[in-house]
Amino acid sequence: MLYNQLKTKISSLVNQSINTEKTLFKICEILRSKISYYDWVGFYFKNGSKQELKLGPYAGLDTEHKIIPFGKGICGQVALTNKNFVVPDVKKQNNYIACNINVKSEIVVPIFVDGKNIGQIDIDSNILNPFSKRDEEFLEYVCAKVATLL
Ligand code: SME
Repeated sequence: MLYNQLKTKISSLVNQSINTEKTLFKICEILRSKISYYDWVGFYFKNGSKQELKLGPYAGLDTEHKIIPFGKGICGQVALTNKNFVVPDVKKQNNYIACNINVKSEIVVPIFVDGKNIGQIDIDSNILNPFSKRDEEFLEYVCAKVATLL
């Protein structure tokens, strides 16, 4: 139920958006505050023509990883594979960039515009293995909505 309510809320925020940056920030804040195991929520976008991601709006602790080269970390891998990446336990990943010491798991879902992977939503959780197919489906919905703004 919560997910359906959130979908409705996000859909109306996107439809009424007059400032993409602010809307993306609001989405981050809503997801972080309403879903108990979403502890850091942010958007990364392809940085112009460079083979790297640049941090966009986010909610949660500050991170020093404002730029991530393609291929590095979970985010950088998703930039290349175009696929969702669910990490139940970050300690078991070799190619992982730690954002802060509290993070135990992560999910990254790509954003497609005209079939091109132009960025992603990245969620960190401070608990182990919290993400299910439901999160993937929900975040795919969020990314599809966000794509209409970009
Ligand atoms: N953990 C990510 C880096 C970004 S932070 O989580 C904000 C990664 O491995 O790509």
